[in-house]
Amino acid sequence: MNKTIDSILGRSSEPRLTTPAPDRDVLEDVFACAARAPDHALLRPWRYLVVEGEGLTALGEVFARIADPEDPLMPNADKLRQMPLRAPMVIVGITRHQSHPKVPEVEESISTGCGMAYMLLALQARGFAGMWRTGAVAYHPAVREGLGLEANETITGFLYVGTPAAEKPALERPEPARFVSRWPD
Ligand SMILES: Cc1cc2nc3c(=O)[nH]c(=O)nc-3n(C[C@H](O)[C@H](O)[C@H](O)COP(=O)(O)O)c2cc1C
Repeated sequence: MNKTIDSILGRSSEPRLTTPAPDRDVLEDVFACAARAPDHALLRPWRYLVVEGEGLTALGEVFARIADPEDPLMPNADKLRQMPLRAPMVIVGITRHQSHPKVPEVEESISTGCGMAYMLLALQARGFAGMWRTGAVAYHPAVREGLGLEANETITGFLYVGTPAAEKPALERPEPARFVSRWPD
């Protein structure tokens, strides 16, 4: 095999995360990897917020603002408030949409997503782990506003980051033959 392939084949999300969170040195690697994302027209359409410590409590307060007792699918305020406390660090992946004539918005979000996938690999390579989460908190305007996003910015995801507290059971991965075919056949 090969180091890169081994690293990708060894990747898995870890929902149970504890301290320590990655330090500044690890984060430098993580964000250097994010900056290797493929990027149509080199728009650099991504930015990231690193949230830890008291910031996680503040993020929970922002999440709690979207509670809506009328919406049965929306978690209640307490649950929303607790969400960021599931890990010692949350990294918010933000896409800055730039209205480029040749680059549809979805491609900008894909670029951020590629960077976030590289970040997960970098975290694992440095002994940490992460889990990408979205849900209503990623798409509600009150969360965008609470985090200070500009009108042209969207949240691509929240990476919950830390040290794996317990390894999750291995997920079965589909065989390539189930999702790859030749065209025309
Ligand atoms: C865009 C995106 C959003 C996701 N949102 C959630 C989420 O809100 N909650 C969740 O449990 N998993 C979410 N996931 C899935 C997990 O991050 C993870 O990929 C999944 O549990 C499979 O584990 P694996 O990464 O080890 O294959 C999301 C994944 C992506 C790519």
